[in-house]
Amino acid sequence: MTLYDLVAPGLDGSADPRYRIAEIRAADPLGADQPLAALPGMNRDADVPALTAALRGLLPDPAGVARWSVPEALAAMRDLGMLLGSLKRHGTEPLAAVPDALPVLAALGRRTGMVPRDTVHHYTTWNPPGARQRMFTGERMEAHLQQAVRMVFPALVAALDTCGELARLEPYDPGFATALDRTAHQVRAMVDSIDFTVAQVSPVFFARGLRPYFEEVEIAGRRYLGPAAAQVPLWLVDLTVWQCDRSDPAYDAFLDESAVYALPAWRAFRSAHRGGTSAVSKLSAALSWEGGSRTPPALARSARSLAELLRILKTFRARHFGIARKAYGEEVRLYEAGSGGAPVALLRTVLDLTRDNETLVRRAAERPRTPAA
Ligand code: HEM
Repeated sequence: MTLYDLVAPGLDGSADPRYRIAEIRAADPLGADQPLAALPGMNRDADVPALTAALRGLLPDPAGVARWSVPEALAAMRDLGMLLGSLKRHGTEPLAAVPDALPVLAALGRRTGMVPRDTVHHYTTWNPPGARQRMFTGERMEAHLQQAVRMVFPALVAALDTCGELARLEPYDPGFATALDRTAHQVRAMVDSIDFTVAQVSPVFFARGLRPYFEEVEIAGRRYLGPAAAQVPLWLVDLTVWQCDRSDPAYDAFLDESAVYALPAWRAFRSAHRGGTSAVSKLSAALSWEGGSRTPPALARSARSLAELLRILKTFRARHFGIARKAYGEEVRLYEAGSGGAPVALLRTVLDLTRDNETLVRRAAERPRTPAA
């Protein structure tokens, strides 16, 4: 157990079974603990026959999947996913090798309300740390990268509530700044996560040792991306803060593709808020309406809180861009695109958008005004 597990808000009592992390981690409906302990060895030997036999051997009766709880179905998808990614890494399209996996993956996708393959949440948050940890390589750096992603899940789930609240408030309301401050506190987990990654995971290990396990696979004629950290839903925070009405076509297209891999509640959040007015737009309109006259203290406080939240988002993105640029540098990379389906250039675009919004808010807030009486 880590500090982040201890300080995580009490998700385990949540009504959404996808948030019952301890229950999902503990579940082993396929009896995969032992076969998957051997996975790093099979991968080291590129033993495709053993990987194929392991996938075939773990498959449950598809009809029985409907009777499983959602946590059990998520755990089963987690475990089958480790074999999908491993087979693909060694050049074998997994469903061509084991066609009987198709009805099982389809049933698990239906039961969980998610795509018919594993996502980054299966690979990290829903993956038990310690002796039962599912890993492709068994290397310490892989465990660290999994931990880096685990660190942010509870905070981003909590941010869903604070950002929902933000969308309902106006910047004159003192609650607007409070919602922003809470979100800023939650988003700091992203900065801690990327600092931990930079300290513990070398870009070369990621590029050469891990990235090949995150390739897309074909399921029922459609290609599904592997478990990419890009599926971490930071976009949920962007959405109501600035993205819903101040985006860019490249980021929109990336989100359209990424949202497919999200939890049902997150997709619903996106549908509810994508046509809304962002916090940045609401605040800029309020500040320009005040013109040169005095700024109400609640509005000034909202501006400071919004600028601070955008600064934290920018800090994550600048540090993340640094490691991504190294891992996808020409001399290191094996693939042009990230495992989330986009090139490093997208990260530059999103970093610039975040920075531009921060600058806009700071400038608008700093325009000389008569202080309120
Ligand atoms: C060696 C470590 C990492 C590398 C090389 C890397 C690389 C990339 C790349 C190339 C993208 C572009 C989209 C794509 O994947 O196709 C991306 C997106 C993204 N990554 Fe990472 N990443 C790393 C670690 C992390 C970690 C630890 C997190 C968070 C816990 C994270 C969160 C994100 C997010 C949220 C995006 C979407 C774009 C954004 O919001 O700025 N990444 N990453």
